[in-house]
Amino acid sequence: MKSGLEDVVAAETVLSDVDGLAGRLVIRGASLDDLVGRATYAQVLARLLDGMFDDLPDTASLERQLGAARVRVFPHLAAVDPAILELGPVEALRALMARIPDGEDFETALLLLAAPAVFTPGLVRLRQGSSPVPPDPALSQAADILLMMSGELPVAGQVAALDAYLVTVSDHGLNASTFAARVVASTRAGLVSAALAALGALKGPLHGGAPGPVLDMLDAIGTPDRAEDWIEAALDRGDRLMGFGHRIYRVRDPRADALKGAVEALARAGKVEVERVVLAQAVETAALNILRKRKPDRALDTNVEFYTALLLDALGFPRDAFTCVFAIGRMSGWVAHAREQILTGRLIRPQSLYVGPQPEQRRVG
Ligand code: ACO
Repeated sequence: MKSGLEDVVAAETVLSDVDGLAGRLVIRGASLDDLVGRATYAQVLARLLDGMFDDLPDTASLERQLGAARVRVFPHLAAVDPAILELGPVEALRALMARIPDGEDFETALLLLAAPAVFTPGLVRLRQGSSPVPPDPALSQAADILLMMSGELPVAGQVAALDAYLVTVSDHGLNASTFAARVVASTRAGLVSAALAALGALKGPLHGGAPGPVLDMLDAIGTPDRAEDWIEAALDRGDRLMGFGHRIYRVRDPRADALKGAVEALARAGKVEVERVVLAQAVETAALNILRKRKPDRALDTNVEFYTALLLDALGFPRDAFTCVFAIGRMSGWVAHAREQILTGRLIRPQSLYVGPQPEQRRVG
């Protein structure tokens, strides 16, 4: 057996298809390239949730109800105490999300979709010693997140960049966190329990915890001329380069290009330093050349996390909260997959292959 379950098909889904050889991501019948920059987060959410709840409203009402749900979860930030603030942002987010009553209904889904969008900026501000900014239910999810982060209305280019990010990470096949969500949902524990399991899986650096370390790498490299030597030394030490490689993609992750486009648009709007983009491109080129030379048999390419780091940094999120922002976008996929699993009515319970010792034969008589 393969301990990473690679090539094992463990669920049927209508939600998304990851084609690792073609470098293509389909979200419920639409190619990612056709969605990013054209569809809003709320539209993609409506696409994913279609048929998953009997009482799902049309997209405009969904956006309004999501705004109202942000207002309903905001009071939970009052529960943040010094012990929660001492935790890392993902653990603090997990603690606050655990306050939402569990259930399998649309109301629970709305609160869950709103929760990380409200708690992430609130926690960032509380950690910085400022007060949380209340949500504005009339704004889009992306615009409201940026308002709650900075206290100021964002400009259109910033909203478009965050919307592009949330759409890009909305769903991605049976990745580790989504699988975790489906397993928990299959026990009928509820959507909150499923989302908490998923968030725990997302935290790891081999999954959603990579973009902060990508930024650390760019800072450590500093200037384009140092990229090759730094990368060679890191690989000599046996380190993995964050933002490169993927279990499924054997070519470039299509999400990397979607986010690279969003970063370049922000740079044109003067919201990212041009030197930062030049450095990232030099590091990416050097990393790909060196990885190809060192691992000729294993196609290692840029993944979603590389340009995520630049994008979220430019939008003012601190690097240790990047995984929380990932959770805001991926919550749509977690909820949709959890509901899809619940609707199958089937408990997920695979088998293990026992390779331990057998009990000694007991003497009888
Ligand atoms: N840097 C250096 N070497 C790498 C990298 C990397 N980023 N990724 C894989 N390799 C090497 C491995 O060391 C291994 O070499 P070996 O055969 O000599 O031991 C070989 O390539 C194959 O790697 P696997 O571990 O089989 O690849 P797997 O499919 O398990 O890994 C993963 C996928 C975890 C994403 C890996 O590429 C990695 O660690 N990347 C860095 C972390 C990262 O960017 N995580 C975000 C992923 S995207 C997401 O989940 C949202």
